[in-house]
Amino acid sequence: MNKKGFIFDLDGVIVDTAKYHFLAWKKLANSIGVDFTETQNEQLKGVSRVKSLEKILAWGNKTVSEAEFKELMDSKNTDYLNYIEQMNASEILPDVPKVLNYLIENKQGVALGSASKNATVILEKVDLLSKFDQIVDGNHVVKGKPNPEVFLKGAEALGIEPKHCIVFEDASAGIEAAKAAQMIAIGIGDKTVLGDADYVFNDFTEISTDFIKELINK
Ligand code: G6P
Ligand code: MG
Repeated sequence: MNKKGFIFDLDGVIVDTAKYHFLAWKKLANSIGVDFTETQNEQLKGVSRVKSLEKILAWGNKTVSEAEFKELMDSKNTDYLNYIEQMNASEILPDVPKVLNYLIENKQGVALGSASKNATVILEKVDLLSKFDQIVDGNHVVKGKPNPEVFLKGAEALGIEPKHCIVFEDASAGIEAAKAAQMIAIGIGDKTVLGDADYVFNDFTEISTDFIKELINK
């Protein structure tokens, strides 16, 4: 069988942490008198912590000093980590282990490509860390999605050419990044948002092992 590289985004693909990001960002935004809605939260998917706070401040027409900015970032992350602390394997999204196990059984490269700086701790909490050959996350990249850096680094870490890599992503910025990296982009979520992907599925229950086999043999 061929060896391909399969690169997974974390938030919204493996686990639904968007709800915890929402709660933590909402508390923070409200604490400085800024409104924060679920619709705005959607726009932060795949966006780094720094860029997310910049957007929230811009939406609220707020400017803060550099020191305050850092305090706000730290405070949001402390709240977020309190939610993460409670996570366990029950929060893995349906059929994600089925796909990961199939890839491992068939000796494929498996990497994480996430903007999160908390990726390792989340994977440990849900007991999936051992499934990944390589982890590339927010601690390893300078440019956020839609820049392809995170996925290119994932391919490099796996030792597999980008054109032989397949990305699973729930954010449109992530699909853009995967396409910019010349990879096959598989959208997980809403077709209207992820229309630029090569394939879109609502979740992993719609992805058969036959389909994965086709990708491997492409
Ligand atoms: C993912 C999420 C974003 C989050 C980013 C950074 O891309 O979709 O909503 O802002 O990671 O996460 P972090 O855990 O480093 O704050
Ligand atoms: Mg995501």
